[in-house]
Amino acid sequence: MSTLTPTTPLQGGVAVVTGAASGIGEAAAEKLASLGAHVVVLARRADRLRDLVERIAENGGTALALTVADSDPAAVQAAADGVEAELGGVDLLFNNAGVMLPAPIEERAAGQWQRQIDLNVTGLMNVIGAFTPQLVRAGQERGVADLINTSSIAARNIFPNFAVYSGTKAYVTHLSRHLRTELGPKGVRVSAIEPGIVGTELQSHVTDRGAIDWLEDSKESMDWLTPQDVAETIGFLATLPPRVNLQQVTIMPTAQTA
Ligand SMILES: NC(=O)c1ccc[n+]([C@@H]2O[C@H](COP(=O)([O-])OP(=O)(O)OC[C@H]3O[C@@H](n4cnc5c(N)ncnc54)[C@H](OP(=O)(O)O)[C@@H]3O)[C@@H](O)[C@H]2O)c1
Repeated sequence: MSTLTPTTPLQGGVAVVTGAASGIGEAAAEKLASLGAHVVVLARRADRLRDLVERIAENGGTALALTVADSDPAAVQAAADGVEAELGGVDLLFNNAGVMLPAPIEERAAGQWQRQIDLNVTGLMNVIGAFTPQLVRAGQERGVADLINTSSIAARNIFPNFAVYSGTKAYVTHLSRHLRTELGPKGVRVSAIEPGIVGTELQSHVTDRGAIDWLEDSKESMDWLTPQDVAETIGFLATLPPRVNLQQVTIMPTAQTA
């Protein structure tokens, strides 16, 4: 890290954000850029990433777009190699891409089960595998680095018909707790962020009628979180003193009860 100032505490650092084409990832990329990080944004939609990079530049930040499907390990490794070659490595990884496709288990929607497992578990691991060597180096050389994984309140709470999604997020939370003990002594803080309902594109992929109705009803009874609410929390985690590691952060709409 180079010069630190109160408004740009991440100046000189490199932050990689997956799932940055929309929602939480997009907002977090903008937040981390506003804190001074050189942000590398990953997702599959090149046009959305290009717009994001332009917006960050207009606001005085720096960003690089890499079009990658997280489920493709070779593409993720190539992205990590590119970050190392061009920017010297990553200091903060926000491992955030995910998909939620609820359905009653008896419908045997095996294609949807697989999509969730492929991205939320296998894709998450591809990203961790490719970038962890750089994070460990940053942690050891600079005293602190961050691995923040996006989990969900579904990791802990019970939502009928969300079993597969919830299982993938329980994996993310439990994995993060384990990795913290492996990587913390090497200077890498590992956190799982567990949001309640956030208004993003996530809900637009849902095809199950019951889940769509449940989500619509919930909109009537509460103010959903915004992606910016979660992004502020990511910024908070990333700017804590190096000795402080929030292991899990659960962030809920005030009126959400489960
Ligand atoms: N919204 C909520 O209520 C909520 C609550 C708790 C947890 N979460 C979690 O928050 C994370 C972000 O979701 P979001 O709510 O911001 O939803 P979102 O707007 O749908 O964002 C998902 C992101 O993942 C990317 N993505 C999808 N498939 C991908 C793939 N195969 N490879 C690489 N990138 C892929 C998408 O971009 P491309 O399509 O361009 O690839 C997009 O940028 C997810 O892990 C989700 O489970 C969300």
